[in-house]
Amino acid sequence: MEIQKWLVVVHAHNLGATAGKPFGVRSRSPLVGWRAMSDIAIRVEGVSKQFGKTLALEKIDLEIPRGIVFGLLGPNGSGKSTTVRILATLLQPDEGSATVDGIDVVRHPAKVRERIGLAGQYAAVDEYLTGHENLVMFGRLSGMSKGDARMRAGELLAEFDLADAAHRISKTYSGGMRRRLDLASSLMARPRILFLDEPTTGLDPRGRLSLWTIIQRLVTDGTTVLLTTQYLEEADRLAQRIAVIDHGRVIADGSPAELKARVGDESVEVAVVRPADLPAATQILAAATSEEPIVDVERSRVIAGVSDGAAALARVSAAIAEAGIATDDLGLRRPTLDEVFLSLTGHVAESSDAEEAE
Ligand SMILES: Nc1ncnc2c1ncn2[C@@H]1O[C@H](COP(=O)(O)OP(=O)(O)OP(=O)(O)O)[C@@H](O)[C@H]1O
Ligand SMILES: [Mg+2]
Repeated sequence: MEIQKWLVVVHAHNLGATAGKPFGVRSRSPLVGWRAMSDIAIRVEGVSKQFGKTLALEKIDLEIPRGIVFGLLGPNGSGKSTTVRILATLLQPDEGSATVDGIDVVRHPAKVRERIGLAGQYAAVDEYLTGHENLVMFGRLSGMSKGDARMRAGELLAEFDLADAAHRISKTYSGGMRRRLDLASSLMARPRILFLDEPTTGLDPRGRLSLWTIIQRLVTDGTTVLLTTQYLEEADRLAQRIAVIDHGRVIADGSPAELKARVGDESVEVAVVRPADLPAATQILAAATSEEPIVDVERSRVIAGVSDGAAALARVSAAIAEAGIATDDLGLRRPTLDEVFLSLTGHVAESSDAEEAE
């Protein structure tokens, strides 16, 4: 069962099957029309999914062009894994439709599985096999010859820094090593469309950096990657396009630059020492800038977009000094995706599970 889940076979002759095919249907997504339909690797239209009382996905639309990293960014419980699991045919949507490589995920799940690689949120390796044996098994299940599978396994073990542990049973691997082995197994058959569900969670900084390099190389070679992450920095760094998802709804999509542009080119940020000064600092920022400030109560910070960076900073700084407000930080900043999230949702990227628990 587990094996079936991860079984991916690339049928190279099938990959171009939809290329050049004329399509007339247009989606409601804001990404519509920016590329010809045949260049779309993954399309999601009006997909909803409910678990008991939890509406995990509420009519989401996505259009993912081929050959890019698409970042699905959202906090805990926002619906990232549910989206991936539907696209990887492990779950069925309640309503709406989705295609991967032009193939309907509900009607032809087996065909979809032939085209994809998946590294789920929780590593699925056989603990009683060695790293090398795990990879060879995946390769063989995907129809590779023994020789090819062994060669590919060797390459991937080296690439994922597992060569030294290749012949140890994976039960003895650390969490990060298992994670890397799982990622390597998703690449055995060189899938053209790859789903990575929070691939860097649990990796140390070095492991994270090397995975970023591997992902970038895959995309240079033409692979389409749907990557979920809660790390804004990761989406910013890797993804050409990002959809921000919150409480099962896509609340924004675009390139990292487009999303950042929504909160202004630059912003002035003030962090106050005493939380009680936050309202006064907010008022000062509102008076000195053209935009309504965004308040991050938890971190005692307030941010406002500005069009005249240095001059605005000087105004704010003078007014803050005059009001006698002690600051931890006062400066001019380029927007981060954190601010994008904050401005889109009105809250910082936090767990909706935690909210529910409250
Ligand atoms: N099998 C399930 N049964 C019941 N509820 C579920 C199930 N799978 C997901 N959910 C709920 O659906 C919502 C979305 O879950 P999902 O796993 O898609 O979130 P996520 O964005 O991947 O979160 P995380 O960052 O924690 O992995 C959550 O509220 C979750 O509790
Ligand atoms: Mg998840």
